[in-house]
This record gives sequence, structure tokens and C-alpha cells, in this order.
Amino acid sequence: MDIFRRLRRFYVPYLRFLGMSLAALVLTTALGLAYPYLLSLIINRVVLAHQYGQLLLYVSLILVASLVKGVFNFLQQYLGQVFGIHAAYDLRNTLYRKLGTQAFSYYDRVHTGDLMSRLTADLDAFRQFLAFGFNGLVNLVLLIVFGLSLMVFMNWELTIAVLVLMPVLAWVAVRFDGQLWPAYKEVRRSLGRLNTSVQENIMGVRTVKSFAREGFEQEKFGGRNESYYTANIVTAALWKRYFPYMELIGNMEVVIVLLVGGYLVIRGQMSLGDLVAFFSVVWYIVAPMSQLGYQLNNWTQSLAAGERLLEILDAPNPITSPEAGHSSVLQGRIEFAGVDLTYEEAPILHDIQFVAEPGQTIALLGLTGAGKTSLAGLIPRFYDVAKGSVRVDGVDVREWDLQALRRQVAVVFQESFLFSTTIFANIAYGHPDATMEEVRRAAQMADAAEFIEDLPAGYSTLVGERGIGLSGGQKQRIALARAILADPRILILDDATSAVDMETEYGIQQSLQRVMKGRTTLIIAHRISSLRRADQILVLDRGRIVQRGRHAELLRESGLYRTIYDMQFRDQGLMPVGRGEGFSAFAQAASSDAFS
Ligand code: GTP
Ligand code: MG
Repeated sequence: MDIFRRLRRFYVPYLRFLGMSLAALVLTTALGLAYPYLLSLIINRVVLAHQYGQLLLYVSLILVASLVKGVFNFLQQYLGQVFGIHAAYDLRNTLYRKLGTQAFSYYDRVHTGDLMSRLTADLDAFRQFLAFGFNGLVNLVLLIVFGLSLMVFMNWELTIAVLVLMPVLAWVAVRFDGQLWPAYKEVRRSLGRLNTSVQENIMGVRTVKSFAREGFEQEKFGGRNESYYTANIVTAALWKRYFPYMELIGNMEVVIVLLVGGYLVIRGQMSLGDLVAFFSVVWYIVAPMSQLGYQLNNWTQSLAAGERLLEILDAPNPITSPEAGHSSVLQGRIEFAGVDLTYEEAPILHDIQFVAEPGQTIALLGLTGAGKTSLAGLIPRFYDVAKGSVRVDGVDVREWDLQALRRQVAVVFQESFLFSTTIFANIAYGHPDATMEEVRRAAQMADAAEFIEDLPAGYSTLVGERGIGLSGGQKQRIALARAILADPRILILDDATSAVDMETEYGIQQSLQRVMKGRTTLIIAHRISSLRRADQILVLDRGRIVQRGRHAELLRESGLYRTIYDMQFRDQGLMPVGRGEGFSAFAQAASSDAFS
């Protein structure tokens, strides 16, 4: 019940549809019960009284009643659906908005497959309950109340005889619901696992194929498919066991009515017409009563689904924009003061201290896992510091309006992500009303214009799922063009040219130098050649800044920078085009030459 209360803001605005649907339901049920009553009239007043002239009248009454009932039944179902669809629409939007504002740390924890199934299957289970389940339950109550009143009105002795078995019926229904609940939960769980397996296999198809592990994956999938199959068989078996019980009870009711009713008719205490009418009322009630288990199950399932939706809605978000946060045009001064960062208690950065003046270029160098990406992510507040503070233009980022801050900071991520749309829309993502000219200029700066214009559809080429595939370096350059076009005051390039060759990288750096005039840039790179011109180079080792200074100064010191430089210098001296697997063979050949 609490779950429905907590979700009420989604359906309360549409309660009028439910209200109208329930009104139609009451009329449907009432008209449905008029049918047995008319039946008794036909038998008592027409057939038994030999009043054949009235037969047509009563038959037309029955006809009209069923026609009107049909209309109300349609309205009841249609309005119920409208109610559910409206509420689900709002809920879906709110869930999506919530996911959109969630912090990075949330996405480190959740599984895509699970989230997707919540947004689709669970949301739909909840919608179904609003659309049909609620009416179903109300219908049951109405039938019992109306039907019983009618029965008492017709013959209270026979009613008592019928009621004897009702508690048994209810007991069986509730008992089966108890057994069905875990069975259904298992169906959902195994479906979730099956979906995860499908999703991973599609996403990881290249890895699977390259390691020739199709057989293993097939087997894993087969196992999960079998669990899902078994779970479904178990529920089907439960249902199949449930129905005979219900049918047995229903038939026993018939026997009781025939036995007791027949006795009453023979004794002249009840008319035949009343018995026939009573009989059809009993049928009218027994059928939905046998659905009680199903209705209860619907209810429990929607509760479980609602709970999974609430988990998304109620998940705390540690990174939220402060009310009346700071917002102004950025100058680009960045200051880290005694910054510590932890991921779920694990220390990642220690006592980071540095200042970047507006327009300066700061470079981060360090071995893999040193914390470079983590450090850069603190500026647009992807994560919050554990200690110290990160200030942009002298204002703590936690006091900045989040949108205002992020709009002025552009990040080219280590893994470039393209949306499945045109190249144009991908580049213009942060600046949707950019003109073709602006997009082309940004692409030129990122050295992407040439290959884009060579594509059959140029900037209108679709990328991603349905579109053509791009190379790693091409994707990276599109991501770079996107950041340039966003016209940020602070630009963060996280290994943004790692996938392009040195010559292209050099070209990109030349144009970037022009773009970045008057803007603060944070460059993360593994190649010293990409950072040698930086105003300040920070060398990061296991979360600490171990060296800092300009290229020339750092070269003079002995330390990590010098070590990395020496390695790369040797590398470059031997192989002008950079890294590659030929390196070790080359080095061996060179050294053996030197020694021979
Ligand atoms: P490269 O990109 O490989 O050069 O490394 P990096 O210097 O950018 O390292 P990064 O900042 O990505 O990671 C620093 C440390 O934080 C590593 O030990 C990671 O294992 C850890 N780490 C990164 N992201 C997460 C995260 O989302 N959760 C947790 N718990 N740890 C993380
Ligand atoms: Mg990184």
C-alpha cells in the first residue's frame, strides 16, 4: 500500500479517468446482474404463467440491457487504459529525467540491462495494474456485494447454503497466490539474467568471436534459457493445478444450489424462475471469484514492480546543483587546494595542489591508473572531493550552478562516444543551433573535415547502430570537434589524440593552439610530444603529484618524467611513426649492432 502512496503523484492527476471508469464498471456490473433477474421474470411471469404476449417485451429488455452493458463495459476498459497510459507516461518521463541527472557514481554501480528492464517490463507491469488490475479488484468486490444482496433478496436460505463454500474458495485463491509469488519472481529474475546475457553477447560480439568462445557463450545462454524455461513451466504447472480446484468448488456450488434449491422448489417454498435466476447469479459470481488468485497476483506483481521503480526515483544523488548557485561567464582560473578523492572509500588522489591561470595549458602525465581522468573529472564536478576544494574562478565547484559550470567546460573523454545520428548532429551536440559553416570549421580544427567530406553523405552520414562504422581515430576527432564547437572556457582533453597518428596529432595541436588562445586547457596524454609546450606539467604517480614544472625543467630533474621521456625518445629515435609491435625487434637489432 505504501508503494502506491509513494507513487501517487503519478496517477492522482488522472484519477478522473479512473473515477469515470469505475462508474462505468458499476453500471456494467449492475446490468450484468439484471440479466438473471430478467430471466426469473421470463420464467415466472411468462413461461409458467403462459403469458406468451409478454415474451417479446422481456426478450427485448434483455437485448437492450446487454447492448447498454456492452457500451459501459467498453467505456470501463477504455477509460481504465487511458488512466494507466497517462500515469505511465508521466512516470516514464520522471524516471528518465531522474536518470539524466544522476551522478556518475550511480552509473558506476548499476547494470544497463537491469535499468532497461525496470524502465520497460516493470513500468509496464505497473501500468497494467492501473489499467486493469485495479478495476478487476473493484469489480470483484462489487460482484460480491451486489450479487450477495441480490441472492439474499431472492432467497436467503439458499444464499447461506452457497456461502458455506465461499471461504474455501477464498482460502484456495490466497494459498495459490502465496505459491505463485515466488514462482513469478523467479520468472522475472531469470528473464533479467537472460537479457543480460543477450546484451553482453551483442555488445561483446567482437571479443567473443576473436577468442572463438561462441561455444562457451552459447552454453551460458543455453543454461539461462533453460532456467527461464523451467521457471515458466513451474508457474504454468501451478496455474494448471489451481484451476481444477476452482472448477471443483464451482461445480460443488452448482450441486448445492440444485440440491437445496430443488428441495425448496419441490416443497413449493421457491419458484422455478427464482431458482434459475439464482443459479445464474451464482455462476456470475463464481467465475470472477475463481480469478481472485490471479487478481491478487497482479496486485503483488505490481507492488514488486513499483518498488523497483521507486528504487530508481529514490536513489540519492550526491551531485546536485545548489539552489541559487553561482553562475557567470567563466574566466578559466582553476585551483585545486589540498584535494583528496576516494571512490567508495578507496583513496584515489592525495593532496592535489595546483593553480591554472586563465588561458594556461596544464598537462597531466602519469602511468596508467595514476588518477589523471579522476582528477580532470573533478573540474566539471563529475565526482565530489573527499577533502580540500576545487575552485573555478575562485568559487568552489560545489557552489556553482551545475549546468552553468558544465556548459563552459568541455570534455573529450578517453572513450569517444557517438550518438546514432548524423555526423553533423554529433558535432553540434553541445551547440545544437550551430550552422554548417561553424560545424565545418570545428571539424577542420580537429582534422576531421577531410575524411568527413570524403564520406558518401558527408556531414549527413549516419553513424552508430544503423550507420557506417568509423575508425577509432575518426571517432576521436569527431568528439574533439564537438568539444571545440561547444566553445568552452575550459577544455579538458583526456587522451584525446591517443588514437591518431603522430602527424595528425601534430596538425591537431597546431590548430588547437589557435583555438585555445585565452582558454584554459587541461591535457592528459601519454606522449611527451603532446605536452612539451604546456605552461605547467603535473606528473602524477599513484594519486600524488610527484613532479611539476615546464618541460625543460623537468628534463633536467631525474624522476618519472625523465624516465618516460628517455623511453619515448629512444622509441621515437628508432621508429619515426611511434609505437608499434616492431619496436622490440628494432631495439634488439639496434642494440646488437651497437655491441657487435
Ligand atoms: P589511464 O586512463 O589508464 O591512463 O589512467 P588514469 O590515470 O586516467 O586513471 P583513473 O583516474 O581512470 O583511475 C585511477 C584509479 O581509480 C584506478 O586505480 C582505477 O581503478 C580507479 N577508478 C577509476 N574509476 C573508478 C570508479 O568508477 N570506481 C572505483 N571504485 N574506482 C575507480
Ligand atoms: Mg584515464
